Amino acid sequence: MAILLLLLFSVPIAVAVTTTKSDTFKPPDNYLIDCGSSAQTTLPDRRIFISDSTSSKHLQYEGREITISDQSADVPLPIYKSARVFNAEATYSFHVSKTGWHWVRLHFFPIKNDFKLQETKFTVIAGESLVLLHEYTPKGIEMREYLMNVTMENLSIRFSGEKDSPAFINAIEVVSVPDMLISENVDALFPVGKKVDGMTRFSFQKMYRINVGGAIIGPGNDTLGRNWDSDQKFLKPQSAAKSVSIAPNVVKYLEGGSPLIAPPTVYASAMEMGDSNTIASNFNITWQFDLDHSYPYLVRLHFCDIVSKSLNELYFNVYVGGKIAISALDLSTVTSGLSVAYYKDLFVEPAMVTNPFLVQVGPLNEPVGTKNAILNGLEILRINNSVNSLDGAFGADGKSATGPSRGTVAAVGFAMMFGAFAGLGAMAVKWQKRPQDWQKKNSFSSWLLPLHAGDTSFLGSSKTSLGSKKSAFYSSTMGLGRYLSFAELQEATKNWDANSVIGVGGFGNVYLGVLEDGTKVAVKRGNPQSEQGINEFQTELQMLSKLRHRHLVSLIGYCDENAEMILVYEYMEHGPMRDHLYGKGLPAISWKQRLEICIGAARGLHYLHTGAATAIIHRDVKSTNILLDESFVAKMADFGLSKDVGMGEAHVSTAVKGSFGYLDPEYFRKQQLTDKSDVYSFGVVLLEVLCARPAIDPALPREQVNLAEWAMQWKRKGLLDKIIDPNLVGHINPESMNKFAEAAEACLAEYGVDRPTMGDVLWNLEYALQLQDQVKTDEGSNGSGSALANGAPLAPTVDNRPITTPAQPSQNPAEVQVIEEHSGTAMFAHPANLNSR
Ligand SMILES: *[C@@H]1O[C@H](CO)[C@@H](O)[C@H](O)[C@H]1NC(C)=O
Ligand SMILES: *[C@@H]1O[C@H](CO)[C@@H](O)[C@H](O)[C@H]1NC(C)=O
Ligand SMILES: *[C@@H]1O[C@H](CO)[C@@H](O)[C@H](O)[C@H]1NC(C)=O
Ligand SMILES: *[C@@H]1O[C@H](CO)[C@@H](O)[C@H](O)[C@H]1NC(C)=O
Ligand SMILES: *[C@@H]1O[C@H](CO)[C@@H](O)[C@H](O)[C@H]1NC(C)=O
Ligand SMILES: *[C@@H]1O[C@H](CO)[C@@H](O)[C@H](O)[C@H]1NC(C)=O
Repeated sequence: MAILLLLLFSVPIAVAVTTTKSDTFKPPDNYLIDCGSSAQTTLPDRRIFISDSTSSKHLQYEGREITISDQSADVPLPIYKSARVFNAEATYSFHVSKTGWHWVRLHFFPIKNDFKLQETKFTVIAGESLVLLHEYTPKGIEMREYLMNVTMENLSIRFSGEKDSPAFINAIEVVSVPDMLISENVDALFPVGKKVDGMTRFSFQKMYRINVGGAIIGPGNDTLGRNWDSDQKFLKPQSAAKSVSIAPNVVKYLEGGSPLIAPPTVYASAMEMGDSNTIASNFNITWQFDLDHSYPYLVRLHFCDIVSKSLNELYFNVYVGGKIAISALDLSTVTSGLSVAYYKDLFVEPAMVTNPFLVQVGPLNEPVGTKNAILNGLEILRINNSVNSLDGAFGADGKSATGPSRGTVAAVGFAMMFGAFAGLGAMAVKWQKRPQDWQKKNSFSSWLLPLHAGDTSFLGSSKTSLGSKKSAFYSSTMGLGRYLSFAELQEATKNWDANSVIGVGGFGNVYLGVLEDGTKVAVKRGNPQSEQGINEFQTELQMLSKLRHRHLVSLIGYCDENAEMILVYEYMEHGPMRDHLYGKGLPAISWKQRLEICIGAARGLHYLHTGAATAIIHRDVKSTNILLDESFVAKMADFGLSKDVGMGEAHVSTAVKGSFGYLDPEYFRKQQLTDKSDVYSFGVVLLEVLCARPAIDPALPREQVNLAEWAMQWKRKGLLDKIIDPNLVGHINPESMNKFAEAAEACLAEYGVDRPTMGDVLWNLEYALQLQDQVKTDEGSNGSGSALANGAPLAPTVDNRPITTPAQPSQNPAEVQVIEEHSGTAMFAHPANLNSR
């Protein structure tokens, strides 16, 4: 009895409600057009499509009127028996009585006739600029469904054939959709814990919509006229799962939920594990899909516990694209009941789109509950790309996000845009896209290799020798260091010995080399196959050639013989800072040493932001890009993603690049890059230094995965000292730690404007160092004030300066030091001939 009571009390009160009348939706706009037909057409589901001849107010078209029909065609719906063909641009427009979400469904079937519709190519654009179809050739019956937020009173859909090709259309639907169908923000699949907001800015195209474990559902049986496919052809292997179902009227919806999200029939069926009763069963049920990885996607998973006998029996993992999407999903807790509908949206960015794209559910590998896992429904919607297209890399204005020619774009652009990139052992996925004007602005060839101007594939092509003029041409004047022959480098790296590899990345390998004179160097050899590499090389070379600073890794030379692209840097004996923090088992470094390293890195960044002719944003600040030389002096490395900001410009608008866990959320949202994005990433590095753990650790419980979020929670609770590196406990002055943590917190401010400049961060870190030194001094020489030993002003005089106050360079000791530091090499700092572009 006692146990029963306990159970009753521990079960939260369910607020599930059964379907009511108010859950049906009457669309304010409901245009169903049967194109080219002479009369209206009634479908088996009783929807009536009107003819566009009688309602020609929708169609503006100057060309020859052509309608075709084949009443004997063997087609599933009568709307495919007629079509309208256009030999000039044609626009259908629809008055939108209520702005907001609308379905646009386009039906195509190339009816056999003289126009060779099976070979035609045309483009369809909705509204001002949304590309629905680009150079499209419908092969058979095809229905394309789009979901778009219409913000104007008039929605137009424009058809235009390529060259002499005609365009055609069999039927069009434009139908209102309730607002609730798409939420304003959703969780990102990765990194865990990240929210993606502004979903209403996006347009969607349905790729897959599946009633898992159930039958096909047609528009007549869906609450919003959708088609749901069955999952059989996606299930691999089929034996892993078996279908279960209940009566649809048993399905309940949570308050705030609705059958409009998905009808009860979707939730009333599911797939569960094929032999979930056997003890040894530990496998996933897997569905496989084909997705083009040049777009982001919205993945919507539908669940409803129709398999459990009682609450809290079923726990399982959900994986999307091979990544954990929901760990230990406990439907009883989220829905407080059985047979209650629940759905989860995930934003999957292009870098996370694998091929094939897998959606999996599997049991927990723990002795909790029954070993089972279910999925009831699944939707995968493509999201428009940055040029507002759902089909291809071109915007409506013909602009391409990825370069001029489509053939290469597909291969190059997408690899670059979203290529996964593992740098120096770090888990880092960079998102990339070529800037639209990359050829003009960033092309290595245009300013450095006149012989290859305009030839973007020069790395892969065989290249005529530049002969002996080469060294004369490039060296000193260009600030690129010296020219090294391929033979020289081959020897230095023992013929590219695999044992000399000290780093691996998307661009190729980094080797440790020893030059003839005994100098150790790091040799970065580009992989000619990697277009991503080319671009990063160009940027890196361009950047490094104009930068010289004690805290930036310097370029010693380069080699471009035999189509090679090799950069040679000073060798950093102690490697990436991260290796000294965790993961490599190296001896722990002291707090003071950590502070000095952070200060060095901050100086390097501060110089980038303020020291050169134009501000430079590093864009990939992380603990693996801070390298340590033989005396543990920190230097910023890897300028492959860096970007110039013109004088007087506050930001550059650009596609998001960077590494997960370090990425500035504001930059992600607005796609506007400022120096404050580096500041954010640096804040994450500071936390890494303090807590000695990676920025993202997917192996940890969900709330701990993202270091920035997790540590800031502890900071707000005033308990940050509980999660610091155990090696520091007892060796860190609390005041120093607090100052340091304050700096980190300020760096991680939500909005860029609230974050300090690198100059301010530097100042605070120096102060934190003084506070630590103070302790040492107190212990050693009884507080005789030797914190002044390094010539810095005594901390208290500047103590209460708020971290967000912009630094006045003249008052800032750190800044003065920076300027002094690079003044000695100023001759390299601004090679005017490089800056004049
Ligand atoms: C559609 O977009 C506009 C502008 O972005 C936004 O204000 C509106 O809320 C969106 N509509 C819906 C239904 O989300
Ligand atoms: C709707 O937009 C189209 C194309 O922009 C235009 O031709 C048409 O006149 C507009 N219709 C109305 C009713 O405003
Ligand atoms: C709706 O479902 C019923 C039974 O499940 C089926 O007989 C009918 O054909 C379906 N209607 C449509 C339009 O799919
Ligand atoms: C289930 O799939 C995930 C992601 O692909 C994988 O990491 C995991 O090991 C799989 N589980 C089993 C038991 O195969
Ligand atoms: C889709 O297009 C909209 C409007 O042009 C744009 O704001 C949005 O950033 C695009 N989506 C992506 C993922 O780039
Ligand atoms: C250390 O300072 C304290 C108080 O300031 C003083 O009493 C003591 O004599 C000093 N000890 C030494 C070794 O200077």
